[in-house]
Amino acid sequence: MRIAMIGTGYVGLVSGACIADFGHRVTCVDKDSAKICSLKSGEIPIYEPGLKDLVQANVHQGRLHFTTALSEALGGADAVFIAVGTPSRRGDGHADLSYVYEATREIAAALSDSAVVITKSTVPVGTGDEVERIIREMRPHGDVSVVSNPEFLREGAAIHDFKHPDRIVIGADDERGKKIVTEIYRPLYLNQAPILYTSRRTAELIKYASNAFLATKITFMNEIADLCEKVGADVQEVSRGIGLDNRIGPKFLHAGPGFGGSCFPKDVRALIKTAQDYDVPLRIVEATESVNETRKRAMARKVSAAFAGVLRGETVAVLGLTFKPNTDDMREAPAIPLITALQDMGARVRVYDPMGMEQAKQVLTDVTYCQGPYDCVEEADAAVIVTEWEQFRALELERLRDLMACPVIVDLRNIYSPEAMKKQGFAYACIGRAPTFQPVNLYVPDHSASSRRANVVASSDTAGGRS
Ligand SMILES: NC(=O)c1ccc[n+]([C@@H]2O[C@H](COP(=O)([O-])OP(=O)(O)OC[C@H]3O[C@@H](n4cnc5c(N)ncnc54)[C@H](O)[C@@H]3O)[C@@H](O)[C@H]2O)c1
Repeated sequence: MRIAMIGTGYVGLVSGACIADFGHRVTCVDKDSAKICSLKSGEIPIYEPGLKDLVQANVHQGRLHFTTALSEALGGADAVFIAVGTPSRRGDGHADLSYVYEATREIAAALSDSAVVITKSTVPVGTGDEVERIIREMRPHGDVSVVSNPEFLREGAAIHDFKHPDRIVIGADDERGKKIVTEIYRPLYLNQAPILYTSRRTAELIKYASNAFLATKITFMNEIADLCEKVGADVQEVSRGIGLDNRIGPKFLHAGPGFGGSCFPKDVRALIKTAQDYDVPLRIVEATESVNETRKRAMARKVSAAFAGVLRGETVAVLGLTFKPNTDDMREAPAIPLITALQDMGARVRVYDPMGMEQAKQVLTDVTYCQGPYDCVEEADAAVIVTEWEQFRALELERLRDLMACPVIVDLRNIYSPEAMKKQGFAYACIGRAPTFQPVNLYVPDHSASSRRANVVASSDTAGGRS
């Protein structure tokens, strides 16, 4: 089949490359000529494991093409995917559908009379109806079919997720649309991927309900983690204890600094707005959103707690900036509000991320960008682990401790054990497990490294049984 993919971002590029890999002929379109230019020259504009090889292989075999000219992609296409962005609309939190509708108008102007238009972008219930209305208005004699096919891939594991989906949702209100989309996914269907056929509106809602549920699961565990700290329980054991229950499941139960990224925050906001418009407020989702927003900035207090609440003049090293490992995506990353809060408290901030530095430079100013984790912690008064990149999981702790002005680590991903950190002479705080130190003891006004180090050891000793 011949397929056009409108929008060549994280979803459009991964989907386009995977669909080409199934054997279809795919042309990816984007308005961003720099992006298309780099793709044509063999460069991949985003970091996603395995994507470069997949794109190159399919380009080489003549199944994957890139262009800025929509008409070039649409000529003879059997199906057109819309995979443009749907960010939060400035001011009110609704999904901004201007890119979707603009793409729709462009498609309608160049479409063959019987193509199927498939919305892969995450869009609120009823958007497919509007896409269909726009196309029918512009092509009153055309035979248009508009299908919803939401995408569930995760950045960092996008190719695997696309090729081994838990389910493929096809929301079609007519047989022709259903048949064409089924044909596109036939190789996955043969591999036993479950296909769920629904109405278009149901498919649109499945995507939002799915993201809101996962966001709620994370937020629930984050609040349980806060309770663990107060009552002396260990959130990792609580999480394991509840996750072994098949009705709950072990995934999305890791406590952390709050969810971020290009999807959950904006999708949760958009679902809340849709529900309010229909006068069915979703109270649980509203609570999830507000708890999560407060949490990201509040993580700065975990750092200031080690200095009796006073961070002015301290240097804080931030390890990890992207919203999760294996991506360079900085959209709504928890590191952003955390760093802003640290700066508001008067701290100087040094940062390092294995892949996200270029994207970070567009949003984070007034920070020192470092070459690696050890460079980053040099002379720092505290280090905060924000993203659980593999390379942060086995840091040389002695080297780290010797480089730091004051050996304080705040681990927002619980990747180290409090006992091991205490043994290495660190004052260590994490999420949902008691810190190894009595925070107030760490504040030493004279800023002398030796007296601070002595204080870390002393405060860790007095914390004794709490770790
Ligand atoms: N990123 C994810 O992990 C993920 C996962 C599932 C679903 N989604 C959804 O998929 C959609 C796309 O997300 P993304 O992260 O790929 O966005 P993105 O911002 O990375 O990419 C969107 C691309 O569309 C291009 N574009 C916009 N209007 C265009 C037009 N008229 N013609 C051609 N190109 C146009 C932009 O230049 C951009 O390159 C969103 O609705 C998102 O919610 C994203």
